[in-house]
Amino acid sequence: MTGPATTELRAAGEVDLEAIVALDVTGFAADAWDRDAWAAELDGPGRRVTVAVHDGAVVGVLATMTLGDVSDLVRVVVRPDARRSGVARALLDDAFGAARAAGADRMLLEVSALNRGAIGFYVDAGFTQIDERPRYYKDGSAALVLRRALGPSCNWSPS
Ligand SMILES: CC(C)(COP(=O)(O)OP(=O)(O)OC[C@H]1O[C@@H](n2cnc3c(N)ncnc32)[C@H](O)[C@@H]1OP(=O)(O)O)[C@@H](O)C(=O)NCCC(=O)NCCS
Repeated sequence: MTGPATTELRAAGEVDLEAIVALDVTGFAADAWDRDAWAAELDGPGRRVTVAVHDGAVVGVLATMTLGDVSDLVRVVVRPDARRSGVARALLDDAFGAARAAGADRMLLEVSALNRGAIGFYVDAGFTQIDERPRYYKDGSAALVLRRALGPSCNWSPS
């Protein structure tokens, strides 16, 4: 069974690129990033890519870019058969801690207004909408801009 207890989180490396690209296609189809785009995420300024591994297979990936006091959540995807078992939440909690340690006090992201599943995930994790970008995506949908305070200590919890 997939879940935080049986899933290892670790920094992604070149060795994971093929699996990450395959995983990304399951979540984003034609909008998935290619190998070069993911390779750039591995070593760009402020970039951090973490994979969730279960039974030797990459079942989730999350990428952030943290510069100064803002951390941007740039990608999160979980293999369809591993969803709703806490994998993305474990990846996100790990990213919160890393962003906080790097000096960020908030995390921002953009999500399609049509992606109700992802919005549900982010709201459950304490994000709130702060803005909207009309016609942001290729399909004409708006992007919701979401924000979540990271707080100064590990004792912080969403209000
Ligand atoms: C969004 C996504 C990453 C969530 O991954 P996940 O591992 O299934 O999420 P978790 O199991 O950690 O979910 C934690 C909580 O978030 C909420 N949540 C997660 N998926 C949800 C959904 N589809 N609908 C409503 N709420 C959801 C629930 O409260 C869930 O807790 P519960 O299962 O106990 O009810 C996954 O659905 C995915 O890969 N989607 C395709 C890619 C994508 O849209 N990425 C985000 C683009 S901005």
